[in-house]
Amino acid sequence: MTAAPGWAGADQIAVREAVEAYVHGGPGDGATVRANVAAWESLPLRPRVLRDVTHVDTAIDLLGLRAPVPLLAAPWAGHQLVHPDGEVASAKGLASAGLPMVQSAGSSVPVADVAAHSGPFWQQVYVPDDRTLIHGFLDRAVAAGATALVLTVDHPAVGNTLPFRAGLARLAPSDGRPRVAANFPDVAPGTPLGTATDLGPRDVERLAARTGLPVVVKGVLRADDARTAVAAGAAAVVVSNHGGRQLAGSVTTAHALPEVVDAVGGRVPVLVDGGIRRGEDVVRALALGARAVLAGRPVARALADGGADGVERWARETIEDVRRALVLCGAPTLDSVGRDLVGDFLGSPV
Ligand code: FNR
Repeated sequence: MTAAPGWAGADQIAVREAVEAYVHGGPGDGATVRANVAAWESLPLRPRVLRDVTHVDTAIDLLGLRAPVPLLAAPWAGHQLVHPDGEVASAKGLASAGLPMVQSAGSSVPVADVAAHSGPFWQQVYVPDDRTLIHGFLDRAVAAGATALVLTVDHPAVGNTLPFRAGLARLAPSDGRPRVAANFPDVAPGTPLGTATDLGPRDVERLAARTGLPVVVKGVLRADDARTAVAAGAAAVVVSNHGGRQLAGSVTTAHALPEVVDAVGGRVPVLVDGGIRRGEDVVRALALGARAVLAGRPVARALADGGADGVERWARETIEDVRRALVLCGAPTLDSVGRDLVGDFLGSPV
């Protein structure tokens, strides 16, 4: 990852190291971050041949979003930590390629300013102890055109992620103003905005009632929790371990996905993120029953390296990579993807 342009006067090497630590860090030695990637790689593809792959149809429609392939940009806090143009650059790059963005609550730029440059988007939220603290933000997200909320539920405490905390500290602006609080100008600096320790199924209903938007529950890894989320009214479930940044040693998302898909039983779409890096990984996820996937760090890397142009380039290349992988698997349409496209995980059982 090269240092972002625009950090005038900054020690470029120190910035590069800090970006690397913030984006790629994980609790402990980052083993869970790596395990997510390795899990997808350990799932053998079983390509079909002698099939007509002339007509490729890979577009999806999902809760107000349309995408050329089943891929969304995951929410991640503080795009200005890695590039001065922040979320505006990400939104422009993604929109140019037609990929939707899930905006983070911890955005460096207010939701309306990002929305002005993006296509239709989903808004991620954390629900703090004092639920009223996010009311103004929710109203602004609705007004800016969010088509769904994404409630992140795997954050009752911040993961023990020394590398990225150190990275964050080094990337803090000299005026000390956090680059992750632009959505909360109405909340006094320093007010705790972390997830409520009593976050529960009722919060799904409350968010839906308050905003009128469908609520996607992000951070589910188990069948029982998936059933709870669906019973609470979730419009979709995201199998996620927060990119391996929260609980060290958590099950990988590739391994958790089949259990959640079976538990949900088609009642709502199941999405997945964590370690998805290539078109082949997207095919693997779809084969295990995901309707779509999200990618986090690849977008961060592209933004840090090349701003809006870098994100657009990444998005276009990845769209092509997904389509190529589907064709090579003999499954040129999403309807034709099935569990037969993957074998059993290599190596030890979960
Ligand atoms: C995240 N993630 C995240 N998730 C969320 O719901 N709200 C957030 O503000 C953030 N912030 C954040 C910052 C950074 C730097 C990263 C890398 C990730 C998690 C993110 O949405 C997603 O679950 C993971 O990034 C997916 O894993 P990969 O694609 O990064 O391996």
